[in-house]
Amino acid sequence: MKWLVLLGLVSVSECIVKIPLRRVKTMRKTLSEKNMLNNFPKEHAYRLSQISFRGSNLTIHPLRNIMDLVYLGNITIGTPPQKFQVIFDTGSADLWVPSDFCAVQACSIHARFRHLQSSTFRPTNRTFSITYGCGTVKGIVVHDTVRIGDLVSTDQPFGLSTAEYGFKRIPFDGVLGLNYPNISYSGAIPIFDKLKNEGAISEPVFAFYLSKDGQEGSVVMFGGVDHRYYKGELNWVPLIQAGNWMVHMDRISIERKVIACSGGCHVIVDTGTAFIKGPKSLVDNMQKLIGARPRGSKYCVSCSAVNTLPTIIFTINRINYPVPGRAYIIKDSRGCCYTTFKENQLSPSTEIWILGEVFLRLYFSVFDRGNDRIGLAQAV
Ligand SMILES: *[C@@H]1O[C@H](CO)[C@@H](O)[C@H](O)[C@H]1NC(C)=O
Ligand SMILES: *[C@@H]1O[C@H](CO)[C@@H](O)[C@H](O)[C@H]1NC(C)=O
Ligand SMILES: *[C@@H]1O[C@H](CO)[C@@H](O)[C@H](O)[C@H]1NC(C)=O
Ligand SMILES: *[C@@H]1O[C@H](CO)[C@@H](O)[C@H](O)[C@H]1NC(C)=O
Repeated sequence: MKWLVLLGLVSVSECIVKIPLRRVKTMRKTLSEKNMLNNFPKEHAYRLSQISFRGSNLTIHPLRNIMDLVYLGNITIGTPPQKFQVIFDTGSADLWVPSDFCAVQACSIHARFRHLQSSTFRPTNRTFSITYGCGTVKGIVVHDTVRIGDLVSTDQPFGLSTAEYGFKRIPFDGVLGLNYPNISYSGAIPIFDKLKNEGAISEPVFAFYLSKDGQEGSVVMFGGVDHRYYKGELNWVPLIQAGNWMVHMDRISIERKVIACSGGCHVIVDTGTAFIKGPKSLVDNMQKLIGARPRGSKYCVSCSAVNTLPTIIFTINRINYPVPGRAYIIKDSRGCCYTTFKENQLSPSTEIWILGEVFLRLYFSVFDRGNDRIGLAQAV
């Protein structure tokens, strides 16, 4: 169980990415109101088990891409509904938002839940504390109605933070965990499990399409898979163990030369991590092979060389998932084109990699709780 708790530490690692909040607000204005949903009417969505079935219970929920670093979606809590922007995080299993008793700055600059204004609010006497890669959130467990688009979970337990440390510069209010209940710190039933148990979701799956280059159109879908978000077939990979979104990886290579994960390793598919993370020595070696030079905490390459960089191939269940230079390099505001391979702070005995949004922009991902497996396919 200890390793599961340790793995919980890695989620929402974007909180280490400094995003100026003012830029987030400007981006919000410049993005047009219209989203991709309008082009994907629900009656054309297909269920997972019967690809040609015209299911109507698929919920496609829009996410906003903030500079390719974080994807946020709106949920509401309470009666009448109060709106929050959250990360839909497959790396953790708890839902929390700031409470209005939280006085620290990290809370006061975000939307806070006003429990006195909700007629369906129900407190408990339980507390929770979650430690992420960048900070800690503490608070109380409460119940209220939570909505993700047209999915409604009444009397849903969730966390209300009363103190947050290290979360000041994050552009989201809270986190909605989509991992297995085993990973939960609060012990509360996760919203996906509750919706699934109540039959609100037609198939126990959810899937992510993450847009590239800051564009709109990113979505998380619940209850099925809309095949127009990917090309070709979904390749299914069984989980190493039910209880965490972690699978076996065969190897990582550059032009048939294995550069990491030789002999196989574990890989976590994490929508709450921006980058691709691995053990320090292997990541350092990868930076060398790419020709990246350290600059501050980053490894940069010449921006004009991005298209000539080697493609890195992740082989999972015998299928190759290439990640080309233009996908693993991001240009920062100071003109540094940096690699998105980062050291995983954890050092468990097994080699563990984390495939975050850099990978998930290229590969549409399906999280299948019914069969304890992950599906990957080339994103459109
Ligand atoms: C959709 O959900 C309703 C109940 O909410 C159920 O009766 C119906 O069978 C579901 N349809 C599909 C295609 O799963
Ligand atoms: C979330 O709501 C805000 C308004 O409160 C809106 O500007 C934003 O576009 C919404 N996000 C998404 C992904 O729909
Ligand atoms: C919490 O509430 C339960 C009943 O709801 C009660 O049995 C328990 O003693 C309470 N615990 C504390 C620490 O107040
Ligand atoms: C996690 O929970 C699942 C049921 O959701 C169970 O089958 C599995 O054994 C649990 N895994 C661990 C490591 O406790």
